[in-house]
Amino acid sequence: MSTARVPHSAVDDRAAFDLIAPRYDLVSGVMTLGMGDGWRRAAAEVADVAAGAQVLDAFTGTGDLALLLADRVTSLGQVIGVDYSPAMIDRARLKAAATHRRCRFEVADVTQLPYENNRFDAVTASGGLRSLDDPSIGIGEMVRVARPGGRIVILEITPPRHLRGLHAGALAVAMPAVVRLLRGDPDAFARLAESVGHMPPPADVAALMWECGIGGIRWREFAGGMATLHHGTVRA
Ligand SMILES: C[S@@+](CC[C@H](N)C(=O)[O-])C[C@H]1O[C@@H](n2cnc3c(N)ncnc32)[C@H](O)[C@@H]1O
Repeated sequence: MSTARVPHSAVDDRAAFDLIAPRYDLVSGVMTLGMGDGWRRAAAEVADVAAGAQVLDAFTGTGDLALLLADRVTSLGQVIGVDYSPAMIDRARLKAAATHRRCRFEVADVTQLPYENNRFDAVTASGGLRSLDDPSIGIGEMVRVARPGGRIVILEITPPRHLRGLHAGALAVAMPAVVRLLRGDPDAFARLAESVGHMPPPADVAALMWECGIGGIRWREFAGGMATLHHGTVRA
């Protein structure tokens, strides 16, 4: 199955995320109607990591999921949050310092992760795969750096099941207005909203995960399909 889209410039995308970073938490809260933190808590739960685990949070953004995972692995383990936007990583580091949590944040591209094979007990991704032209490359890298038996968790904002067109239209109209109010960059945020429609339906994401070497795949939808949480285990 091919889910690849027409390629666009990764450099432009990264620059757009750098522009978004200062307002990201506020706008993400609007896009998820305040439910995003609960969804990330559910993602941390199914990552199923205990004290001492080694965890990678891909597409970490401002670090919210990575910090929840850091609480679970304690100082006996380690969480690395990775993102290709330096501005996002700066904010994640500030958040970790402000909340006295131990978490490493690094700038890197998820399509070419700078980690050895089988390095992590769990690899998570919240809201980043949909910005890749070919999500299977990102999932493949997540699987490569996870150990056999390691957990893979993918949380994505998705168009609600019965309102695909309406939802996309509402986001396209509402997002620039909200961002103007918050004095952010409307075009950069419009791209973020538009990318919600890029995620394939849940069964196709599960099929992609299987093709990338993940088994025991389960998924759960939140708020009528506004977000979908997939998880599974790297096949030995
Ligand atoms: C929608 S935000 C999600 C942030 C965060 N994980 C959350 O739950 O809110 C997507 C993030 O993925 C990052 N990103 C997109 N493509 C990437 C890539 N190829 N490599 C690394 N980071 C990427 C962006 O910079 C952005 O911070």
